[in-house]
Amino acid sequence: MPESDNYLVIGSSGFQGAAVARALLTAGHRVRGFARGTGTPAPGAPEPATVHGDLADPDSVREAFRDVTHAVVQLPLHFDARLIETYAHNVVTAAREANVRRLVYNTNTPVPDTDTSYAAYDTRRIAEAILRDSGLPVVTLRPPVYLDNTFSPWNGPELAEEGVLSYPLPADLRVSWLSHDDLAAATVAALHREGLERATLRIGGPEAVTGAELAEEFSRGMGRPIAFRPQEVGEFESRLGRVIGPEAASGVGGIYHWLAGEPDTELFVADHDTVRRELGISTTPIARWVAAQPWHVWLQGAGTS
Ligand SMILES: NC(=O)c1ccc[n+]([C@@H]2O[C@H](COP(=O)([O-])OP(=O)(O)OC[C@H]3O[C@@H](n4cnc5c(N)ncnc54)[C@H](OP(=O)(O)O)[C@@H]3O)[C@@H](O)[C@H]2O)c1
Repeated sequence: MPESDNYLVIGSSGFQGAAVARALLTAGHRVRGFARGTGTPAPGAPEPATVHGDLADPDSVREAFRDVTHAVVQLPLHFDARLIETYAHNVVTAAREANVRRLVYNTNTPVPDTDTSYAAYDTRRIAEAILRDSGLPVVTLRPPVYLDNTFSPWNGPELAEEGVLSYPLPADLRVSWLSHDDLAAATVAALHREGLERATLRIGGPEAVTGAELAEEFSRGMGRPIAFRPQEVGEFESRLGRVIGPEAASGVGGIYHWLAGEPDTELFVADHDTVRRELGISTTPIARWVAAQPWHVWLQGAGTS
């Protein structure tokens, strides 16, 4: 890899960004982070040299992009359309000035083709259009739902203690659950594979499963029976809100409110052959990912280290 290559990860201290920064550092790349520096870093987040600034502030975004050749954009869980437009325009201006060779945009979620009236989707489509229409060498990755969401304060204790996996998805909806580490592998590939400029890839894990099938994979991975419980979106928002705040939780909840009315959509199913062909990666089977997690940390009285 050329000595002069510099990799910028926006949102580097967050869950998704930390996984991406870690994968880039492991591959030996020179990484610069970008975050406000006000949030609690995700557990195990690496600490690359970081520019502290706000995506809403064009000067700090410009500073982050100085001499950058490759950039990864993870938008934070903010859902105000004007703000997201500002973030996207600031990124485009700074990336253009830096003359980046590749920019990977992670939409956080699948993106329906038309307006949904849910900001969780519509703001991501707006940002995607701004980046794509910029003429920059952008690759867009649309992930489904992360497996790591289940290893969390809002799912972990119930899974570890009661063997119940509650999630606000229609029971028969098929989802290609993806791990943060596989998101990171896909991102590293999207930064480097030839001919991907302007591609939009629906990434995901190798199995597209319903709720009951997901529980079967968790049962295999955890070595004990796990039951799937379709959860009310309101209950999900309230559990999530205790961790990320009510506003962000209500924004995220829009994803699941929309899905409740679209129980047959195939939007959350990835084409794994395309992922393998375009990105040259194989993603992790659900049961293998589950088996690798230290679920005991969620047992009552256990530390959460
Ligand atoms: N499809 C899915 O399943 C899905 C999608 C997205 C997220 N999630 C889940 O949601 C949880 C949160 O993950 P996450 O990675 O999205 O978010 P996060 O952990 O909250 O990270 C957000 C990152 O962006 C930075 N940031 C926030 N606002 C900023 C701003 N205005 N300007 C610059 N930087 C800013 C944060 O640092 P500062 O706060 O210090 O600025 C942090 O580095 C995880 O459990 C994740 O799995 C799931």
